[in-house]
Order: sequence, then structure tokens, then C-alpha cells
Amino acid sequence: MKNKPIGVFDSGLGGLTVVRELIRALPGEDIVYFGDTGRVPYGGRSFETIERYAREDANFLLRQNVKYIIAACGTVSSVAPHTGALLPVPYKGVVAPAAKAAALATKNGKIGVIGTQATISSGAYSRELSQIDGSFQVFEVACPLFVPLVESGWIEPSDPVLKLTVRRYIASLLDKTIDTLILGCTHYPILSGAIGAFCGESVKLISSGHASATEATRELCELGLLRDERTGGKVRFYVSDITASFSDVTNILFGGDLAAQRTLVSIDD
Ligand code: DGL
Repeated sequence: MKNKPIGVFDSGLGGLTVVRELIRALPGEDIVYFGDTGRVPYGGRSFETIERYAREDANFLLRQNVKYIIAACGTVSSVAPHTGALLPVPYKGVVAPAAKAAALATKNGKIGVIGTQATISSGAYSRELSQIDGSFQVFEVACPLFVPLVESGWIEPSDPVLKLTVRRYIASLLDKTIDTLILGCTHYPILSGAIGAFCGESVKLISSGHASATEATRELCELGLLRDERTGGKVRFYVSDITASFSDVTNILFGGDLAAQRTLVSIDD
């Protein structure tokens, strides 16, 4: 069991931000990534469809013989939190780890959350935060244009369309004097240059991907699931459609060698 890979999935390439953190924390582990690039974005779909996609993505990873699954997708983690209950391996989403990290980071108790339409409609982050501390003031904004911008590769902080979109979505949160902002979608850390520049240093950005990778590392260790063979460290990428932006963003995050290792699969196979 220990020497099997860790499985990570997302609707597209946002979950690569989790893979990047996992490689840093656990360089000896094998990782299998599935990005459902043929069906991204999930964030505007019905809860029933997102639940079905989550089951299909997790089952695809199980067929790759993984020992642990990370739903590296804020939307799936928010809307379909019970996906893991049906699985024979441990399963982790990104909501609880990000909420925990934000609770530790905030000084004034005013926390902003940005995510997809489905994530914000689910109220998952504010529920989780109020369970940690009922006095937190949580302000949530859906940012439906961010995922298409990332998937289109419009990620340069100086990009005028990106700058305008960031201002349009986030200005109202700054008016509330938040000191912490949860990037509740795993695509958003790819935009953290533009988001951070607009928010300024007084707002701490919490990456749901980073927080979940840290939590998964701790849990794998606790469960005795860390690999003991020294031959690990391989990463396999599967996508349901090979898009130019997947190559661009994997190149930016990992460099050319890793990015080249990807296989196209149909989710029905
Ligand atoms: N990375 C996904 C998330 O964390 C993007 C969702 C989408 O496909 O709309 O929510």
C-alpha cells in the first residue's frame, strides 16, 4: 500500500498548484494527477453534475491504484464533500485545510473568500470558518471569470484584462477591511501575483492548494502511508483533453520535462 502513488484530481489545471506543493513536501512520492480539461470549468454547473464528475474523477484515480486521493478542487470539495465516504482509500478536500490556515492567519477576524459560483453558493468555507470560531466575519465573492482566464493562459500580473477583473471582484472585500483572503479555488494561486498586487501587503493570501498539501502530508505520515522504497518521485499527468494552456501552465509550474509527461484519457475508459 505504502508504495502506491498519491492521486490528485481537479477540473483542469488548478490542482497542479497542489501537486507543486506535494512535490516540495514529499519529493520521494509517486503522484498521479488527473485534470478533467475536457469538462472544465465545473464551477457553473449544477450540484448533481459536480457530484457525478467528482465520483468519476475519483474512480479514475482508483483505477490507477492510488493509496490516497486529494480532491484538489475547491468546487468539488465544497459541493461534493461526501465523495470520499464511498471510497476504499483516504480522501481529502481543500476546504477544511484552507479554513484552518486562514483562522490561524487572521488578526482582525475579517476573512474574505473567493471561489467559483458553485463554491460560494454552497457556503462551505463560511460554514467551516464559523465552526472554528463563531466570531469570524466572513465575506464571500464568486469570481466566475478567473478559471477561464487561467485556462486561457491569461495569467501575467500585468495583463490589463486580468487586472481589471481582479479589481472588479475584490474591491468590495477590501472595503470590508479583511486581513486574510482565502483563494478558495485551486486555480487562483496561479493568479496570486495580480491578486496580491491589488490587495497589498496588509492582506494575507491563503492558498487552498498549499494548505491541503500540508494537511495531506501530515495525514499520510500519521496513517503510516509514506513510501518506504527509494525509487519514487515520478509524476504522471492524465488529462481528458490536451489543451495548449495545460502545456503552458505545466511548463511555468514545473518546467518542460515534467510537463511533457502527460497522457490523454477519456473519463469513460
Ligand atoms: N480548480 C477548481 C476549483 O478549485 C476550478 C473549478 C472549475 O472548474 O470551475 O474550484
